Amino acid sequence: MNTCVVGLQWGDEGKGKVVDLLGETADLVVRYGGGANAGHTVVRGRGEKSFALHLLPSGILRKNVLSVIANGVVVDGETLLEEIEGLSQRGIVVGKNLRISGRAHLVMDYHKKQDRLSEEALGAGKLGTTVRGIGPCYADKVTRTTGLRVEDLLDLGGLYERLKQIVDLKNRYFAAIYGDKEPLEADEIFSKCRRWAEVLGPMITDTTALLHRCWQEGKRILFEGAQGTLLDLDHGTFPYVTSSNSSGAGLSAGAGVPAKAVDCFLGVAKAYSTRVGSGPFPTEQDNETGRYIRDKGHEYGTTTGRPRRCGWFDMVSVGYSIKIGGIDELALQHLDTLSGLKELKVCRGYRYDGKKLDFFPAERRILEQVECAYETLEGFEEDISRVKDFAALPEAARKYVLRLEELLGIPITMVGVGPSREQMLLRRP
Ligand code: IMP
Repeated sequence: MNTCVVGLQWGDEGKGKVVDLLGETADLVVRYGGGANAGHTVVRGRGEKSFALHLLPSGILRKNVLSVIANGVVVDGETLLEEIEGLSQRGIVVGKNLRISGRAHLVMDYHKKQDRLSEEALGAGKLGTTVRGIGPCYADKVTRTTGLRVEDLLDLGGLYERLKQIVDLKNRYFAAIYGDKEPLEADEIFSKCRRWAEVLGPMITDTTALLHRCWQEGKRILFEGAQGTLLDLDHGTFPYVTSSNSSGAGLSAGAGVPAKAVDCFLGVAKAYSTRVGSGPFPTEQDNETGRYIRDKGHEYGTTTGRPRRCGWFDMVSVGYSIKIGGIDELALQHLDTLSGLKELKVCRGYRYDGKKLDFFPAERRILEQVECAYETLEGFEEDISRVKDFAALPEAARKYVLRLEELLGIPITMVGVGPSREQMLLRRP
């Protein structure tokens, strides 16, 4: 059984915890998109060890699981080496248990610089990126002539020549467009690449061939999506999106296996909504309720530490994400965060210009102005973080989940009541 875990909102839905949990029965865990902009926090045991992963698949924390960084990921060698080093200091060895696609692209210093310069130049109109160089790296991939791939680390002579040309081009571009006066040194960047090559070289593999072999052999593969469907470059809230296909649609291009290799697309959503960075957010509660959710749910970015914008659960956008991704079932996270709110609201529909919309709108200007029609449900007061069984939840909490299930039309098979993987109530239809 192969599963693909996909975020249905604007990222940070708690996919890392779900992947960590499902990793128990997986042979391989595969990241297929995004880069070090992602932040997966995996917590082991109540209030115990917490691991913040950016590039490594969450499967890396489990023995006997092969972790794969597939071709659709953009690899920041600096972050990856830091992450590997950090884990080894905590007794988790990364070596033969990690395979990196030679087809994946490399995030270089000039990508991060370009991201920063571009955001600074945009000022108030900025995208609110993580400044991890993600957009510029994917842009170079599409441009082709300036893209560098992980496989280039296996030919350092050739890499050096390409780097000199590219860095010269980037320096001229930064100076001309942004008035930048601090040119980057190709030699300095190259010496970093040499270090990456030493550590990562033995892990570079044709992961497409590997995945097809494993699929044929009936190995259990868990695909781990990064970010969420509403941040998808094509299907999200453009231009306030990331630069990859972070919905389930990114799986085939990003891993080199067809969608039919997946038996279950498992969507992950919070029991409310959050968003980091700029962009439309119809159910946002920029008020006491939003602040309550942020504080109770510790809604601050794993990668940038930025406070997340918080709001009510949105049936329209999550329903859309379910359609885009062909989502079979749902893991609903952070139900515990809602405890203490007198009323819970769920957005059932959007109205624009006096008319009801029947689909999630593509136009940014419409999305920025829609009015939400809410259904109000009863809240619950109890601390549910120690509840072990769905049936033992307070009635109002149970009713909230069952109502979402009814409205979304897919089974909610997992309900998160706290950050650790033990705090997940499993429901099987
Ligand atoms: P970028 O991916 O760094 O270019 O950022 C583009 C948008 O995606 C910004 O709004 C970011 O805040 C958002 N974003 C990127 N990665 C994540 C994530 O892992 N969680 C939540 N938001 C993200």
